[in-house]
Amino acid sequence: MDVISVIRTKRDRGRLSDEQIDWVIDAYTRGAVADEQMSALAMAVLLNGMDRAEIARWTAAMIASGERMDFSSLARPTADKHSTGGVGDKITLPLAPLVAACGAAVPQLSGRGLGHTGGTLDKLESIPGWRASLSTEEMLAVLDGVGAVVCAAGDGLAPADKKLYALRDVTGTVEAIPLIASSIMSKKIAEGTGSLVLDVKVGSGAFMKSLEDARELAATMVGLGTDHGVRTVALLTDMSVPLGLTAGNALEVRESVEVLAGGGPADVVELTLALAREMLDAAGLKDADPARALADGSAMDAWRRMIRAQGGDPDAALPVARDTHVVTAPASGVLTGLDAYAVGVAAWRLGAGRARKEDAVQAGAGVELHARPGDPVTAGQPLLTLHTDTPERFDYALEALEGGFTVSPAGTGFTPRPIVLDRIS
Ligand code: URA
Repeated sequence: MDVISVIRTKRDRGRLSDEQIDWVIDAYTRGAVADEQMSALAMAVLLNGMDRAEIARWTAAMIASGERMDFSSLARPTADKHSTGGVGDKITLPLAPLVAACGAAVPQLSGRGLGHTGGTLDKLESIPGWRASLSTEEMLAVLDGVGAVVCAAGDGLAPADKKLYALRDVTGTVEAIPLIASSIMSKKIAEGTGSLVLDVKVGSGAFMKSLEDARELAATMVGLGTDHGVRTVALLTDMSVPLGLTAGNALEVRESVEVLAGGGPADVVELTLALAREMLDAAGLKDADPARALADGSAMDAWRRMIRAQGGDPDAALPVARDTHVVTAPASGVLTGLDAYAVGVAAWRLGAGRARKEDAVQAGAGVELHARPGDPVTAGQPLLTLHTDTPERFDYALEALEGGFTVSPAGTGFTPRPIVLDRIS
């Protein structure tokens, strides 16, 4: 087998054979295929696609590149959730303890933010003392004791994906449905969850900008999960506006705690409950009532145990950025547009995200929203507050927000998009 013939096959719109796929994934993981060769192949896949059988084989080869976890010793059924990434998407934070409080075990192997989308681990790391890196034994102990764990995936899980994802990130090859589907599902299948709910984001702030692309990605991932014996369901959810009223690390933790305390923005509560119901259903816990677990404080109790089990102090004050800048409404009327991508880029430029994976993030940085699309606004009222430790970033963030919000004359009709746009099972 030689890598150039594999690249040429896909470049010339051919099908990769099972042997070609197995070989190239294994050789790349071992370092026998160079980054520049793999990036040429990734670009050929992005341009020319892969069929269902190729994607299934590619996924299986990535799973086989590492170890598989085993949750069969746990007394509870396992239910996991994966979001394809968005702006203000803090849902894992209230969702994992909520579903644990309802009787499932929730193993959330999460990632860090890159680009304009935030990362769950970066958010939780703003809690003083909280630790993302756990050994497999520690992870299983937290899962067993608390019912939910959110931690970094160990190096042993789908190492081919770890390498390939980092390469795609710097070669403009992230947005390929076969590569996204195999990347996400190889990790989830190797992790060993019994059931999985996918939150496939659609809109300006998501990788998938159109419903058609999101449906194709969701159907591909549901097919891969089902073929590997994982009960898999996908919700297509709106990411044309940010979720909730915050985008940033500590800012989103604060909002998540509000949800766990029975308050919080309506869209965050609605999506948390919709995903919780799907996870509990997929785990066979059909009688559980997540709305009650939010209202009676049991989800909050599980959150506090989960944070403590990983060294965090749930009562500690969260970091606050040193400087703020308020953006006001330019006119009176109705806020009819608030673009998720613009807000995500602004939060990123303020220091909530990173440009390279080695960069540190600022815990307190981000964007706070004071109005949601559909709200009436008065000229001069605060619309957004920008937070950062490095005020020289305000100009870059403001540049990102240019054209990112629209105030229309009072009386202009506005129909909000529903949060859940479709369901694929
Ligand atoms: N998240 C992943 O884990 N992989 C992708 O390819 C895209 C998003």
